[in-house]
Amino acid sequence: MNIATQAAQIGLEWDTRTGAVTVPIYQTATFRHPALGQSTGYDYSRSGNPTRQALEEGIARLEGGARGFAYASGMAAIANLLLLFKKGDHLVVTEDLYGGTCRLFDQIFTQYDLSFTYVDTSDLEAVRAAIRPETRALFVESLTNPLLKVADIAALSALCRERGILHIVDNTFLTPYLLRPFDLGADITVYSATKYLAGHNDTVSGLVVVKDAALAEKVYFHQNSVGAILGPQDSWLTIRGMKTLSVRLDRQQENAQRIAQWLATHPLVTMVYYPGLSEHPGHGLLKRQAKGFGAMVAFEVTDPSLVERVLLKTNVISFAESLGGVETLITFPEVQTHADIPPDVRRRLGINNVLLRLSVGIEDADDLIADLAQAFE
Ligand SMILES: Cc1ncc(COP(=O)(O)O)c(C=O)c1O
Repeated sequence: MNIATQAAQIGLEWDTRTGAVTVPIYQTATFRHPALGQSTGYDYSRSGNPTRQALEEGIARLEGGARGFAYASGMAAIANLLLLFKKGDHLVVTEDLYGGTCRLFDQIFTQYDLSFTYVDTSDLEAVRAAIRPETRALFVESLTNPLLKVADIAALSALCRERGILHIVDNTFLTPYLLRPFDLGADITVYSATKYLAGHNDTVSGLVVVKDAALAEKVYFHQNSVGAILGPQDSWLTIRGMKTLSVRLDRQQENAQRIAQWLATHPLVTMVYYPGLSEHPGHGLLKRQAKGFGAMVAFEVTDPSLVERVLLKTNVISFAESLGGVETLITFPEVQTHADIPPDVRRRLGINNVLLRLSVGIEDADDLIADLAQAFE
């Protein structure tokens, strides 16, 4: 079944007693037992809650994995995955990673003797060279943040299989609607569902899907043991958002393509990063591997003084962090999302004081372009 159909129908079949079309919000901490030694299948909401379960089964179906898991945030999801590793283990990681993930790895998990090597994961040979005997996983953002580099998920998965390591894909920017990492050989996917999956800037949530059932059992053990689960209200909001994933992303991508093309011709813009532009280095790969180019656009302006002007003068577009929702947002990665990346690394990666990032929403593209045009004046 097409993913648009699967997404629209998450939770539809859940309430057989009343036939409710949406899954009820089971706002309960605990569940009554019918008798000694018996259970309804639910005991305590950290271990399992029906609203969260509808979401977890829904994302697992969309992705084609054995089991899904919902967490209190994308960071909680990633932190839970790192519990699969032990003292001395090494991970190879995308270099222009979301700043929060980098902070979690470098400032917290290094304390538990995990080590990380950052490489350009759009360069297969660089990844191959970084793998050591103690490497246990490759952690890749399928489309990177904010420079929108494209990783060859199929080639990287083949390399991981050859070397016997796990391939974990943070697919936040593309979602299973545009890219299905398991079909290309990956083992685990992780999402900040706060972004495109929930899609309305109204909840913070994280999702993980595991392809293999035995590995999923381990992840469940960690989810239940640590307890950073998503509550029933936020699970419901995430499901509600996911139902419209396909129509939102179709519109967002259409808008992003038009805005990227407009920016590319603007005299005060020196560089546009959008994989939908044919000159983007990842254009051909993403065209083969995914169903679309996403709706994130980054661009550089001619002078640092323009950054503040654009941030403050845009009216339809909001100056705010986060991405993936229906409202268009603009951010300044150097001082916001990527502030936790060391300055020398930021410079090397091209995250500089003239780079702005747009998360393009579903508004009318002409209104968005007119807003940017007046902000540049
Ligand atoms: C690619 C990516 N992964 C993970 C996260 C963390 O997710 P959350 O903010 O839901 O904790 C983010 C947040 O911006 C992100 O952009």
